[in-house]
Amino acid sequence: MSEPLLQVEKVRKVFTTGSENLEVLKEISFSTPSGNVVVITGQSGCGKSTLLHLIGGLDAVTEGFIRVGEMVVSEMGEGDLTLYRRKTLGFIFQLHLLLKEFTALENVAIPALICGVPKAEAFHRASHLLSLVGLSGRLRHFPQELSGGERQRVAVARALMNDPLLILADEPTGNLDEGNARIVQEQLFSLVREYRKTLILVTHDRELAKEGDQRFLLQEGVLHPL
Ligand SMILES: Nc1ncnc2c1ncn2[C@@H]1O[C@H](COP(=O)(O)OP(=O)(O)O)[C@@H](O)[C@H]1O
Ligand SMILES: [Mg+2]
Repeated sequence: MSEPLLQVEKVRKVFTTGSENLEVLKEISFSTPSGNVVVITGQSGCGKSTLLHLIGGLDAVTEGFIRVGEMVVSEMGEGDLTLYRRKTLGFIFQLHLLLKEFTALENVAIPALICGVPKAEAFHRASHLLSLVGLSGRLRHFPQELSGGERQRVAVARALMNDPLLILADEPTGNLDEGNARIVQEQLFSLVREYRKTLILVTHDRELAKEGDQRFLLQEGVLHPL
């Protein structure tokens, strides 16, 4: 059997605020092979975003081990974490977090430009990705000139830009109406399946959750297989 792409082993996360300790994650263990979609659901406040932040190297584990490919994320320093976030990951958040001074095309291209990909190549790929999410006609639009669903599709295209090993999506349809949620879902999954990406998806959206190859409920700091 091949090594899993992502391995999360006995991860614990405690937030300390003043003299209060909040144990959000008690003992999280799971692993997934390359190309799988992992869905994590659970009540608001149960620690879903916290878990994605730990996997994404945006916050440090209290205890435990996280590996992505050859990289031991839970032991990396800031410099390596920055490179890891830029080159290995694609992020999609509930709020798209597009840069408002830049066009849709530029927003999608930026992750590659930051990594030193030549402009022509970056814009060519960005334009292709935007066409795959049905936004060929919106390349020069600024975020405020796009609908909520369109912005989220730009965020989906951007997450694929650097050909990441792993995509982390935190309630990507959370702010959308039903119709737009289904469009974002369809396009996210057609890209993920076409490029055989591994996706860790946190969602409240039941329709979206059905797409998981592995599904978990996060409750009281522990993952329960569904
Ligand atoms: N940086 C932080 N410092 C202290 N507490 C935090 C921090 N981030 C999250 N929390 C707390 O951890 C719990 C889990 O938060 P979160 O992971 O955002 O939940 P979810 O995404 O499942 O809604 C919440 O009770 C939240 O208040
Ligand atoms: Mg959250």
